[in-house]
Amino acid sequence: MKVGFLQLRPKFGNVKSNVRAAKSLLKNVSDAIIVLPELFNTGYLFRSKDELKNLAESAANGYTVGEMKKLAKQKNLSLVFGIVEKKARKYYNSSVLVTSKGKVFTYQKTHLFDREKLFFSPGEKSYVVHDVDGVKLGMMVCFDWCFPEVTRILALRGAQVICHPANLILPHGQAAMKTRSIENRVFTITANRIGTEKRANVSITFTGHSQIIDPSGNELASVGDRSESLKIVDIDVAVAV
Ligand code: ACM
Repeated sequence: MKVGFLQLRPKFGNVKSNVRAAKSLLKNVSDAIIVLPELFNTGYLFRSKDELKNLAESAANGYTVGEMKKLAKQKNLSLVFGIVEKKARKYYNSSVLVTSKGKVFTYQKTHLFDREKLFFSPGEKSYVVHDVDGVKLGMMVCFDWCFPEVTRILALRGAQVICHPANLILPHGQAAMKTRSIENRVFTITANRIGTEKRANVSITFTGHSQIIDPSGNELASVGDRSESLKIVDIDVAVAV
């Protein structure tokens, strides 16, 4: 099974161009599970709830999900990526899984970080494991790394590969994910973003260093914090127990 991450530098508010850029970087990839960052299509630092609402979309029929579904089908991919999800008049910081067969699943981030609490509702229905072409796949989002229960519950429910779209800011997220892999005997794929956003009198630099970790805590792939990067590795999912 081929799995990978696409580390990106989204431009705030420019959904179409962010989606186009990601699709272009994936144009030669097929037959794999690929993880993209949290909020990869919108950027992170919202100034207001109105701004967030304008960038939100439905997972059922939104623009980004539609584009990613087309790509997944064309290239036999499963894609996991973060969006602002609008659902029943609430707004979630969600991870979406689209499969090559056109199925769509979401996970709504439960542990909101800092200013995210001003804008997003925390997820309610959580920690579902999906069977994707025989691979048991779980999703978490960024700051969930700080709460070992998230990976533990997913692992107890049978997850072999945990996909982790991220906009990491704090220093220890990547290191903690190695521990999460070891303590649960699972593969983890952290797709982080890079770059600095300066908005709403706040400036945040994202830490990059996306990585794929095996159930023994080994780095199968990792990158720095300077460039958009795609890494894909072959794994034997049966190693995860
Ligand atoms: C984060 O959860 N995006 C820091």
